[in-house]
This record gives sequence, C-alpha cells and structure tokens, in this order.
Amino acid sequence: MDRIDEFARIGTEAALEAGRLLMRHFRTNFSIAHKGDINIVTELDVAAEKLIVSRILDAFPAHSVLAEESHPNAARTPFTWIIDPLDGTTNYAHGLPVFCVSVGLEIDGEVEWGIVYNPNLEEIFTARRGHGAFLNHERIRVSKVGPLGVSLLATGFPYDIRTSERNNLNYFREFALRAQAVRRVGSAALDLCYVGCGRFDGFWELKLNPWDCAAGCLVVREGGGRVTDFRGKPCSIYDEECVASNVIIHDEMIAVLRSV
Ligand code: IPD
Ligand code: CA
Ligand code: CA
Repeated sequence: MDRIDEFARIGTEAALEAGRLLMRHFRTNFSIAHKGDINIVTELDVAAEKLIVSRILDAFPAHSVLAEESHPNAARTPFTWIIDPLDGTTNYAHGLPVFCVSVGLEIDGEVEWGIVYNPNLEEIFTARRGHGAFLNHERIRVSKVGPLGVSLLATGFPYDIRTSERNNLNYFREFALRAQAVRRVGSAALDLCYVGCGRFDGFWELKLNPWDCAAGCLVVREGGGRVTDFRGKPCSIYDEECVASNVIIHDEMIAVLRSV
C-alpha cells in the first residue's frame, strides 16, 4: 500500500459517508437557500461538505481543500482535495434520485485520484492516474460507438443561462440535430463517469467548476477516453470548456463545436 492508497482510503470513506448522509435526508423537509436566480444550495450540500472536509483534514492536516460551499476560492497547495459534496443539487431538491458526491485529489497540480459516488444506485466510480478507472472495483472502458450520428451525448447548462449568451443553447441545438440523442442528466460528475464506462459516448459543457469535473475527468481519461477544450486542445479542470468522449467521436464533436 503506497501513500496514494492511503489517501484513497480516507477519501473513499468520506465520500461514502457523505452519500449516506444525503440518502438519509433525501425527500425530507430540508432548507434551501438561493445563491442566484436558479442556483440553489440545500442544508445537505453544506452538511455533506462539512463531513467530507473534516474527515480529510483530520487525517491529513497539512493538506488543503477546494470545496464548493465553504472553500470555493482556496489557493491550491501541493495536496489539494477538490470536493463537490452534492453534484446534482437541483435534482436533489426536487426529489429526483440523480445526484452524487465527487472528491478528487490533486498532487502538485495533477489530479492523481478521484471518486464519484452515486448512492441511489450504489455505484462507486474511482480512478487513479496511470492505473485505470473502476466501477465498484471492476475495470471500466469508454464505448466503441461512432460516428456521431449514432452516439448518445450528454451536456448541461450553466446557472447564468438566463443572462449570458454563452449559455450552451447554440451548441445544444446543433448536437441535438447531429447525434442520436442528447441527455441533460443534471450532474456533470455522473455525465463524465458515464462517458468513462461507455453509457454515454460524449459530453460537453461550459463553465464547469473544478469540483464538478476533477474526479470525473480522471475517470474518462483512465477509461481510455479523451478530454479537451472546444478546440481539441488539452485542458485542465480549471478551464471554461470541457469535451469528453470515447476518442472515436472526439474530432467530430470538435468540428461541430467549431462550426457554431
Ligand atoms: C451542477 C451540475 C449540473 C451542471 C452544472 C453544475 P451542482 O452542479 O453538475 O449538471 O450542468 O453546471 O453546476 O450545482 O448540482 O453541484
Ligand atoms: Ca457540481
Ligand atoms: Ca454541488
């Protein structure tokens, strides 16, 4: 067992515990606050994050956390945990059982390990850089589906959809006409894991935050997929644009994005 295995053990325990907390309170009478017009935060986003952060910092006091609700602008340090305690908050608030917990660990600027836990289906996606991606401990791979016309894609829309012109509706229109179908699941972390295990063939989204995609992008890459910006250039979890695919349809997706 090396040091990353030990980090992964604590990260996994924290994510699973947070997922169970979300399930215990799902469809109960929790409070909801507004961060923006349509961007909400529930009591459980905050509680799940507190739990994850305390588990991690108790075990590794020298590490830092970049976490959506309490440390969204934290400076990155050699060991940074990137945490979305509840990805799919809108679904959760409406009682729709499609949400997850996402935790990634960045070491010296590289995401080395990540977990996405979907407590509704008891699905645990994990990936370690250079060691593959897994669903409940079984190795996963991206799909072999292509071309774009027979592919199933996923996307999402930013919370400034009402006020920004860069709201993804233009790209959505184009892909809806070119792909077999496009889904809007409501959890970017799950979308990415579903690319990593071949349920979706491709995904694109704008204005994601690092906590939405830190673990999920690693799952795609380790599942044999490709992740870039909208021009096909390598991108990081801190970039505005994200395209993830099974490789086969990637150039076609980039061509569509560039044509809009
Ligand atoms: C959101 C979800 C959604 C995506 C949004 C994200 P949240 O995260 O991942 O699918 O379209 O861009 O902000 O707010 O539920 O953690
Ligand atoms: Ca999120
Ligand atoms: Ca969230």
